[in-house]
Formats: sequence, structure tokens, C-alpha cells
Amino acid sequence: MKALEGVRILDFTHVQSGPTCTQLLAWFGADVIKIERPGTGDITRGQLQDIPKVDSLYFTMLNHNKRSITLDTKNPTGKEVLERLIKECDVLVENFGPGVLDRMGFPWEKISRLNPRMIVASIKGFGPGPYEDCKVYENVAQCTGGAASTTGFRDGPPLVTGAQIGDSGTGLHLALGIVAALYHRTHSGRGQRVTCAMQDGVLNLSRVKLRDQQRLARGPLKEYSQFGEGVPFGAAVPRAGNDSGGGQPGRILKCKGWEQDPDAYIYFITQAPVWEKICDIIGEPTWKTDPEYATPPARLTKLNAIFARIEQWTMTKTKFEVMNICNAVDIPVGPILSMKEIAEDQSLRATGTVVEVDHPTRGKYLSVGNPIKLSDSPTKVERSPLLGEHTEEILRDVLRFDPGRISEIQQSGAVGVPPAIAAE
Ligand code: COA
Repeated sequence: MKALEGVRILDFTHVQSGPTCTQLLAWFGADVIKIERPGTGDITRGQLQDIPKVDSLYFTMLNHNKRSITLDTKNPTGKEVLERLIKECDVLVENFGPGVLDRMGFPWEKISRLNPRMIVASIKGFGPGPYEDCKVYENVAQCTGGAASTTGFRDGPPLVTGAQIGDSGTGLHLALGIVAALYHRTHSGRGQRVTCAMQDGVLNLSRVKLRDQQRLARGPLKEYSQFGEGVPFGAAVPRAGNDSGGGQPGRILKCKGWEQDPDAYIYFITQAPVWEKICDIIGEPTWKTDPEYATPPARLTKLNAIFARIEQWTMTKTKFEVMNICNAVDIPVGPILSMKEIAEDQSLRATGTVVEVDHPTRGKYLSVGNPIKLSDSPTKVERSPLLGEHTEEILRDVLRFDPGRISEIQQSGAVGVPPAIAAE
């Protein structure tokens, strides 16, 4: 049995944040039924399309292992079907704009009346407060959650990161809330609301910067490069380039080939317990005992010079050579891997972290598999559904409608036309 086998999810999510959450639940074995608007479906099906009229990678990579039903929830018959689905499911997950579910005629009170065991899980951009009615996308959350103001270089503008901490990050948070609520229900017998604001999710991931904001009130942040450079701190945590976020100073350094290869770099951490090994490797054995270098506090004012010296050494090696030499003596380093290198990495394929998936209209493509591995509940990544692919199956098998009722529902316009599925 899969970990979440027997749990049925009514998946009202779209774009990235919500689908990330329900995809994880599907990977753990839940039956995820994605409700999509007839005709268009999740907007991402048609966004960033690399092959005309074929579900985009944006969609396919976020909607594995789900079933798709098309349903117009503003149509009276569609509302009846939705009510039946609410009665049959354990969790409703949504990331509509604020107020959408209420306007659809399905506020929490009604859902909980229809099915008191139902868990209703929502992602919104902001929690209650001045911005609660705002629509939000990834970068809005990165900016309002404290990530952008603390990312980038001191002399440059705030930066957003490529990691989708607002969307996928909040989806992860929500998934945890849902499994906690499912566990709680085993005691209480009741469902509850689970809400996660994207601003809150980003702030949770940026908590070390709120730590530094408070440390700043008591003096300069000595591990930030600007301290060693003698640049005074302002009132707020500054952008710290590639400085490490923790107590062990680190930097991104050039490696052999950096002139041609934009990713020939390595993150190098001067972890205090391995300082002597670093000195030996870079050819500065006197730094082991020289009081100007031997202790972490002494080094804080000289980080630029120290990393410049280490870089002289890393530039004589490829990033993988540096990785091998340093890891052999426990010096923590991280080569900057390009997406091309990651896509070709056989060890990531072997663990199922990168998977090749076959799709009836797209053909083969790569995706990121489940990063969370359960020993007794391994994940098998299945392709995403075509729009409305399972409409009839769900009406018949989940809602137990007879053929006559199914045909009435189809004629009412509440469900879309099933897709012509190419032979798989
Ligand atoms: N049948 C009928 N109508 C449907 C439907 C269905 N199956 N599914 C959705 N709709 C309707 C909704 O009822 C809503 O109509 P209304 O505005 O008349 O009430 C409409 O579609 C639009 O929904 P909304 O969620 O506001 O979509 P949007 O495209 O305008 O906004 C977001 C997109 C992402 C900005 C917004 O959903 C949002 O802020 N979500 C919360 C935060 C979030 O998750 N953001 C990140 C996304 S990755």
C-alpha cells in the first residue's frame, strides 16, 4: 500500500503552487482528481508551449499521477456534481484568487456541512490583513516575504531567485498541513481548514535573515563581506552576494575554464574545523598557526583576501576536481551544476529524482520526481492527464452515476468534451 492510499483529493488547484502540493500527495498514493474548466483547463496547459497544441512542460511537470475531470462549477448541474464530489473526497485543495470559492457558492461552512470530515486546504498570496484580497504570483511572494531584499549584491538591485520558493515552497508547506490535518482527523473525526500564505511560506524559508535583522540591532554582522570591507551597515539586513547564510564563511569561486563556461564555479566553505586542511591544500601552511589567520574571528576581517587566495588554487582545477580533492578531506564544497549537467546526471536518474516520462501527445520528456523518498511507499511517476481525460470514469466510478445521468450531465454543458486520446 502507498502511504496515502485511500485518501481522495478534490484538486481545485492551478498554475504552480497548488499543483505542487497535490502532485506530492498523488506521489504518496492519494487519488487526486483535478477539476478543470471545460475548454481551457489549467491555464498552464497552454503557457510556455514548446510544441503547438500539446500540454506544456509547465503543466506536465506539475500534474503527474492525477486524474482530470472537466467541470463548469458555475453551471447548476456542475454545482450538483461538485457537491457530490465534496461528499466523496477527503481533502479539497485550492489556490484560487481570494474569495473565488465563496463566489462559486462553496464557502467553508457549506463544504463542512456537506462533508464534516472534509479538510479544505488553501493557498493565498497573503494572510488576513491589508493585502488579503490581492492576487499573487511567485515573484510577488519572493519580494514580500523578505527573500528579494536579502538576495543579490550590495551595490545592485534586489533579486528574485530561480528556485520557486513562493509557489513550490508554499505548495510543500500546504502538503505538510494537509497530512497533519489528516492525522488529526483520525482522532477528532472532523476536517478543518488548512491555510498557507505565500508571503508566510517565503518568510519561513528566509528566517535566517530575520535572525540577522535582530543581530544587526546589537552590532555589525561580522560574517558578511561588507564587515571586512569596512562598509557600514544600514538599518536593514543587506544583500550579501554569495556570502554564506550561516556561521561558516563561504563564497562562489572560479574554477578552471570559467572564461568559457558560465558554470565553472564552486561554492567553497571555510568551515572552521577543517581550516588546517584548507591551508595545506591551497599551499598556505603558515596560516595554520599565524595568529592573523588561525582563528575564525581573526579571519573575519580578511575574508576577501582569503577567498582570493583559495580562488587562485580553485582556478587551477575543474569544479569536479576541486569537489573530489576537498571532499576527500571533509572540506564542504559545491560545484555549480547547470541544468544541462543535472539533466544528464545518472545518479539522479538512478534515485528517481530525475525521471523520464512518456506522454501520449508530447512523447518523452524529463521531469523532477519525488524528492521525498519513503522506503515502504516508493513513488512511480505517471504522466499528467489530458484535459478531462477521466471525466466519464469519475462520474461513473467515483460518483456512481448511471449511464442515463451521465448523458444528462454531458448534455447540460457542465462537463467538457472528452479529449481524443492518441493511442498510447
Ligand atoms: N468552472 C467555472 N469557473 C471556474 C472554474 C471552473 N472549473 N475554475 C475556476 N473558475 C473561475 C473562478 O470561479 C473565478 O471566477 P470569479 O473571479 O468570477 O469568481 C475565475 O475562474 C478566476 O479564478 P482566479 O483564481 O482568480 O484566477 P486568475 O487567473 O484570475 O488568478 C492567480 C490567478 C494565481 C493570481 C490567483 O488564482 C491567485 O492569486 N491565487 C492564490 C495565490 C496563488 O496560488 N498564486 C500562485 C499561483 S502559482
